[in-house]
Amino acid sequence: MKNIFAANWKLNKGPKETREYFTKLLAQASITELESMVFFVPATNLEAAAETLKGKPVKIGPQNCYLKTSGAFTGEVSAQVAKEIGATVGLVGHSERRQFFGETDQWVTEKSYLLQSLGLAPMICVGESLSERQSGMTNEVVKAQLSKGIEKLDLSKSFYIAYEPIWAIGTGQVATHEQVSEVHAFLRSELMKLKPELESTPILYGGSVKPENAKSLLSIKDVNGFLVGGASLEVESFLAICRAG
Ligand code: PGA
Repeated sequence: MKNIFAANWKLNKGPKETREYFTKLLAQASITELESMVFFVPATNLEAAAETLKGKPVKIGPQNCYLKTSGAFTGEVSAQVAKEIGATVGLVGHSERRQFFGETDQWVTEKSYLLQSLGLAPMICVGESLSERQSGMTNEVVKAQLSKGIEKLDLSKSFYIAYEPIWAIGTGQVATHEQVSEVHAFLRSELMKLKPELESTPILYGGSVKPENAKSLLSIKDVNGFLVGGASLEVESFLAICRAG
């Protein structure tokens, strides 16, 4: 399976920096490399990203969307509008959304379904907190998040899973080879129990991925790429991660 390299810019960069970033990226990356990239930019930068990447095989999408595509929902992001701008993917259930914005498993179910029904591929995030890991609940937690995330999906259509242990996000504390390997194998087996074809659903790892640890993480079976936060903000470090495979 071809690796996927997804960038989560979080609440960083404006339209000008977005254009500069992608202009630089297009000058440095090959078409094959661009094909493996996905960028979740702030919704306010989607248009700048789409314009700069026009005609190129890079995927872009919002970091969140609302359950409805329009209406009296002040401050929310419409997946329909994101699609109109050029999004083909959408991030769902990131731990920061769950932790700071009260995103529930039920919302993750609905948002993933909405994205797919609009023709966008959802990237569903799962991951345990440190206390959940310490109390031996990791598999239970990720299993529940996975099943809620894909509950209403058409499993024959495209979607992605990102395993991000919360304690490894933005902390510099990357999960060990063994920890990543165990959870990815578990997620793969859960997917394949539902449908053997889900052997080809990409399962990405996220949490303090850097150029220095990318190669060794990519050697783990069932790690099919990354969801990268901090190290995706500079073209050089993101490209180095994409080239680690
Ligand atoms: P990080 O973030 O790479 O900065 O740890 C990953 C993420 O939150 O998706």
